[in-house]
Amino acid sequence: MNILAIETSCDETAVSIIGTSIEVPIEASIVTIQSNIISSQVELHAQWGGVVPNLAAREHTKNIIPVLTEALETARTTKDDMDLIAVTHAPGLIPALLSGVSVAKSLAYAWHKPLMGVHHIEGHIYANWIEQKKDILFPALALVVSGGHTQLVLMANHCQYEIVGQTQDDAVGEAFDKVARILGLGYPGGPIISQRAKIFEQTKKENNITLPQPMKNSGDYNFSFSGIKTAALYLVKDYRKENNLPDDADLPQDFIDAVAHAFQTATVEILTKKTLGATETYNVQSVLLAGGVSANTQLREKLQQEIETNFSDVQFFAPKMEYCLDNAAMIGAAAHYRYNTISQKEKDNLANGWKTVEAKANLQM
Ligand code: KG4
Ligand code: ZN
Repeated sequence: MNILAIETSCDETAVSIIGTSIEVPIEASIVTIQSNIISSQVELHAQWGGVVPNLAAREHTKNIIPVLTEALETARTTKDDMDLIAVTHAPGLIPALLSGVSVAKSLAYAWHKPLMGVHHIEGHIYANWIEQKKDILFPALALVVSGGHTQLVLMANHCQYEIVGQTQDDAVGEAFDKVARILGLGYPGGPIISQRAKIFEQTKKENNITLPQPMKNSGDYNFSFSGIKTAALYLVKDYRKENNLPDDADLPQDFIDAVAHAFQTATVEILTKKTLGATETYNVQSVLLAGGVSANTQLREKLQQEIETNFSDVQFFAPKMEYCLDNAAMIGAAAHYRYNTISQKEKDNLANGWKTVEAKANLQM
């Protein structure tokens, strides 16, 4: 089965062609990425310090057909070989989602192909199944960390999701981006904060800056990140006052590195503590990392190390680096697993996808 997948929920225009072998049981199936084309708008939005929805939609509309053409050419295939079209239909920025959904619906109608709407977070979770060992055992726990989400998702089996904890305010990726802005670093903040934290580790031994770890011991699996961000803001304000540094003057590199390190450490500590707690409570067999912040090396390493130390029978998985950030291959992978878990009637209904798939800004999995 060949799937053409489209992702435009935020600031990447992405199309991927994936080939899947349908096996029984589904665990034995193989997902092969034939092409994975991503056109990033990061530079455009960087000048505004964040994603501007209408600008994102305009760029998606400009880039989607060239990206689609490149995806088909790279995979050396044509529309005739496609068995299913999958598109991210929720959640995300409505103007951005609508551009991908409109193109997907038009293609499905014109090419007479079934169309499936895929939840963006489901895609991030299924990035773990791309080009990796397939023995991810259930029940599994996914720590979803992206620019819009921070959730602990319990999966009893493929495509079954129960949210057991989530952020009460900012998403963790959003907090990385906001702290980066406070420090005068660019957008997106995650990769820059993580580089600065690494520089700190390589040059210094101890950090005399610490940041709070809100809700770390709240006894549930919920999160809060806005307090750390505010604490970082006051650290910077106090530093400027003590050093007579005007608001528009650059902060010294050493101070930036120390705050970045303190912020990343506090964040990783909270995420790890909550994930370990839920791993024990729900007695899971696998822990998966998902979403853009899963590209954070400190988080990947710390979580893996803690799982291995504390749970000898639990396996840890993180997506390959190229599938951590928004891409369409993960949307295709999620579509493959969903297709193989739905009834024949539901499969038949996908023929009406050009009529029924709807873009939704907010939708729980
Ligand atoms: O999943 P994603 O690409 O888009 C959403 O679905 O939101 O995640 C983007 C988020 C941004 O907030 C970005 O700063 C963060 O992921 N991010 C990182 C890293 N790379 C990207 N955060 C921490 N460390 C990184 N290396
Ligand atoms: Zn994402």
